[in-house]
Amino acid sequence: MLEYVLVNIYKYLLIHYTRKARVVYMSVLVTGGTGYIGSHTCVELLKKGYDIVIADNLSNSEIDVVDKIEKITGKRPAFYEVDILDRDGIERIFSAHKIDAVIHFAGKKAVGESVEKPLMYYHNNITGTIYVLEAMLKFGCKRIVFSSSATVYGVPKTVPIKEDSPLSAVNPYGATKLYIEGMLKDLYVANKDLSITLLRYFNPIGAHESGLIGDNPNGIPNNLMPYITRVAKGALPQLGVYGNDYPTHDGTGVRDYIHVIDLAVGHIKALEHMDRPGINAYNLGTGKGYSVLEIVNAFEKINNIKIPYIITERRPGDVAECYSDPSKAKDELGWVAEYSLEEMCASSWNFQRQAN
Ligand code: WQD
Repeated sequence: MLEYVLVNIYKYLLIHYTRKARVVYMSVLVTGGTGYIGSHTCVELLKKGYDIVIADNLSNSEIDVVDKIEKITGKRPAFYEVDILDRDGIERIFSAHKIDAVIHFAGKKAVGESVEKPLMYYHNNITGTIYVLEAMLKFGCKRIVFSSSATVYGVPKTVPIKEDSPLSAVNPYGATKLYIEGMLKDLYVANKDLSITLLRYFNPIGAHESGLIGDNPNGIPNNLMPYITRVAKGALPQLGVYGNDYPTHDGTGVRDYIHVIDLAVGHIKALEHMDRPGINAYNLGTGKGYSVLEIVNAFEKINNIKIPYIITERRPGDVAECYSDPSKAKDELGWVAEYSLEEMCASSWNFQRQAN
């Protein structure tokens, strides 16, 4: 009788603790890992104890980001200066490391540039992703988290946007994201042992509290927050507000701004829920929309800096309102954005004022 009781206690404990055990990955390959979202995700991966390998062509980031990741975490990731279009270079990484999961950030992401150079965008983003996927299949890697975007919702008919909202593309950049999502869905049909997560980002802003890493695009920023921080720094004279005649509460565009660290943590949560095959899409947003003028006012207030602006014409392709319903990520991944708008504005400025 005693033996029977002991055996069953052992069985219960074994089941209970193995079920709670998180999937332990050998190595996670982060393509685009020295970029804005990629670098913050690498920091969170290293903090969680993952072993990571970064592949980046440094076309829109600096090699010293690797040093900064090490300075923040105390761990130096393996780094390869490799373009995703260099299929041999990508395969060499899989040969050198047991890659168990891929987080795929690498890709061109400037909407305006994509309109001017569509073929370059299609080739770089789609062909490059195909080479990453082919290397994964060749080396038996079965998990991928894809850096998708709210731009796959095109001009949203209703807000807040849910994952089953209609998908469409309004520019070549958005089309590459949409087509890659479609490719991944087809790949899953052909390879049912894969685990694929599509993360649709809304508007990432903010920076790590150290101020060492953040959003520092080359040239004149396309996006609102890096433009505001350059005005705050005196590098640009004033902000142009793209239209104040939208059907919103103050006439300016409304977006779902999310702290980049909340976004990074979303990738960890995704990885922790990929121990079974499948393909899932999740919105990573706060579920709250703020207008351009609300962002300007919040930035001025928390940083005690005046941001001069003028109202200009609307930017072609802009939509009036775009914000998420992030409840699916909460229900299925246990993920919720936690940082406030004030923290997003303060950390954005804390990074830019130190950046060169
Ligand atoms: C935000 C709001 C502008 C700059 C883009 C990409 C999207 C995603 C996020 C990658 C809008 C207004 C902006 C300026 C302004 N990127 N604005 N003056 O356009 O919502 O999304 O970045 O996935 O794919 O499309 O972001 O920051 O450019 O604009 O008034 O100088 O700020 O009109 O209302 P957007 P954004």
